[in-house]
Formats: sequence, structure tokens, C-alpha cells
Amino acid sequence: MSTKITWLGHSAFAMQTGKHHLVIDPFVDDSPSAPLSAADLKCDFLLLTHGHFDHVADAVALAQRTGAVVVANYEIGEWLKSQGVDAEKVVAMNTGGACQLPCGRVKMTPALHSSSLPDGSYGGVAGGFILDLPEGGVYFAGDTALSLEMKLIGLHQLRLAVLPIGDLFTMGPAESVEAIKFLNPQQVLPCHYNTWPPIVQDAGAWAEQVRLHTAAEPVVLAPGASHTL
Ligand code: NI
Ligand code: MN
Repeated sequence: MSTKITWLGHSAFAMQTGKHHLVIDPFVDDSPSAPLSAADLKCDFLLLTHGHFDHVADAVALAQRTGAVVVANYEIGEWLKSQGVDAEKVVAMNTGGACQLPCGRVKMTPALHSSSLPDGSYGGVAGGFILDLPEGGVYFAGDTALSLEMKLIGLHQLRLAVLPIGDLFTMGPAESVEAIKFLNPQQVLPCHYNTWPPIVQDAGAWAEQVRLHTAAEPVVLAPGASHTL
């Protein structure tokens, strides 16, 4: 069994682990950097870190088309149901909790960020996820500032950390290097950058800093490219 993770641009990822297809934060059809359309995605499990449009834009349509199980915080779970997503497919949870999915255990982590939904409804508290896979833990930070909570998340054996580096809405490249020291993952993959001009970053320069100052191996992908764990 192996796990393949594909960057769909911005904070959107597709993962195949064993026979399961996961999608994280589907912002595809309106994303300037997405390499495909949401209609092309296979999805058994859909994970949403918070309510902002650049994380949930295609979530309702994707959940309805695929019948995927959707994992999100309680408020987003309620919103999904109000938008017509099958209530039996929604796993609503909250920060610090975990649930067991057929593809692995999923824990919701804290993030330092906000979380309103596209129609202005309250989106609960922003979060991230640690997904326990046979290859080790995969941490999707979601949108977040650098936070001391990451020291606790680092107690988990992280195979891979997926971190925002775009700055402005999230931590930037320099803070992400400090985050990596707290998290201590084997590998680190950057996201939430180069989607729009205000969050353009030089991922090559970031990777250099990661190699210089941390023990993690940086994995920089182009949108549409994949990394196998
Ligand atoms: Ni956000
Ligand atoms: Mn965002």
C-alpha cells in the first residue's frame, strides 16, 4: 500500500491511500492555479479545515456528486446539511477530537485563523487535521499563523507536514520555518501561495531555508504534481 498526494493549487489536495480517495479543502473551479476541474476528482472522504471560500468552494457539489463522507467542524457540518449534503455523510467534530475513518484516524487540530462561510454564516473555529496513515502522520495545518500549539502537534510522529507559506492571510515563509522546528516532520510541503499576486512566494528560496535550518526535507510541487509517501 502506498499514499500519493497531489497538489491541486492553493490549499487543495487530492490523496490516494490504498483504495481510498481523499480531497482536502476543494477550491478548484474558481482557483486560478488549479490544474483540473472539480468534476474530475474522485472522492470518498472530504476534509474541510475551515469555512472560507478558498477552502470550501467546491465542497457541496463534490460531496453531492461523489457521496463522499465529509469531515468538518460542527458548524460547517450544519451548513453543509443546510446546503443539501446528505446528513448521514457528514462527520461533524471539533478541535482536539478524532474520528476513525476506513482510511485512517483523523484528528482535528487547532489553527490560529478565522472561519466564516461563503454566505456569511458562522463557520466555527478554524482547524487543521492529522491523518494517521500506515506511512505515519500527515498534518494539514490549514490556514494558520505560527503557533505554540505546533509544539504539541509535533509530539505526533509526522511523516509529512503541509503548511501555508503565502503570508498575508497565513504565516509566511520565515514563520513556517519556525513551525517546522516545532513540528519536526520528516518532510514538509508548502501551500497557500502563488494563487494570487498578494501571496506570491519563492518556494525555491523557502526550500533552501528549510534545508538550512531544520531537519525536514522540503517537497515543492507544481499544481497538478504528486508526491508519494
Ligand atoms: Ni482562510
Ligand atoms: Mn485560505
